[in-house]
Amino acid sequence: MATSSSQPVVSVESVRKEYELGGTVTALDGVDLTFEAGSYTAVMGPSGSGKSTLLNLIGALDTPTSGDVVVAGENVAALSEAARAALRGTRIGFIFQTFNLMPRLTAVENVTLPLMFDEWDRSDRRDRAEQLLADVGLGNRLDHLPQELSGGQRQRVAIARALAADPELILADEPTGNVDTETGNEIMSLLRDANNRGNAVLLVTHERRIAEHADRVVNVTDGVIERIEQVDHDTPVAGEQR
Ligand SMILES: Nc1ncnc2c1ncn2[C@@H]1O[C@H](COP(=O)(O)OP(=O)(O)OP(=O)(O)O)[C@@H](O)[C@H]1O
Ligand SMILES: [Mg+2]
Repeated sequence: MATSSSQPVVSVESVRKEYELGGTVTALDGVDLTFEAGSYTAVMGPSGSGKSTLLNLIGALDTPTSGDVVVAGENVAALSEAARAALRGTRIGFIFQTFNLMPRLTAVENVTLPLMFDEWDRSDRRDRAEQLLADVGLGNRLDHLPQELSGGQRQRVAIARALAADPELILADEPTGNVDTETGNEIMSLLRDANNRGNAVLLVTHERRIAEHADRVVNVTDGVIERIEQVDHDTPVAGEQR
């Protein structure tokens, strides 16, 4: 549930992540970062800088080599695999560059998936999924399979799915990476709406133009935070050339 307790929704403390793959790759080299409930942060950096690694750790898809990742009060590394799956299912909504929808399930079935963890009955799940799909402009595509939808429509299904359980944290890894600019703007506007309703949003991107939709931009290079900027939404951006 989206809440506004004073405890940060995510706390990343002295996190290192190394991958052993024919030598050691240090993907994150001592990262400290907190995300407040209801906040909107973009993590920006070049390819290979460790953005997805950070997102995957926060999303309890992986654990750090050292340091702590605390999500919704739970130290992710201390959880069993089942508890981690439950955390992912109920407290976190994921949006990926490649959409990651279940190919054999229709749009509305994909959106009901996160509701399986909670005690929703079947018709309530369906009602909620239909409402969420209507909210993202897909009320007329409920029974389409992912392959019968455009890229932008698939991403909107993924957003509806991420919002289904009303998680306190939404993680989006390059959510506009595979759609055209106009669709990308629609997707950013849906993420802003979610944030306005109280869901914390953490967005990963390599594009400054996209990052500046957030309220705070964390710049990452070679696994290290270089600087953190607050975004001033009141000053108009001069053209696109920044
Ligand atoms: N599963 C893995 N096994 C081994 N090395 C990995 C693995 N995942 C990532 N890496 C390495 O860790 C570093 C950081 O990768 P990461 O995917 O976090 O970068 P990124 O900032 O998301 O890049 P991009 O913008 O291209 O998505 C890279 O050098 C990458 O090769
Ligand atoms: Mg990445």
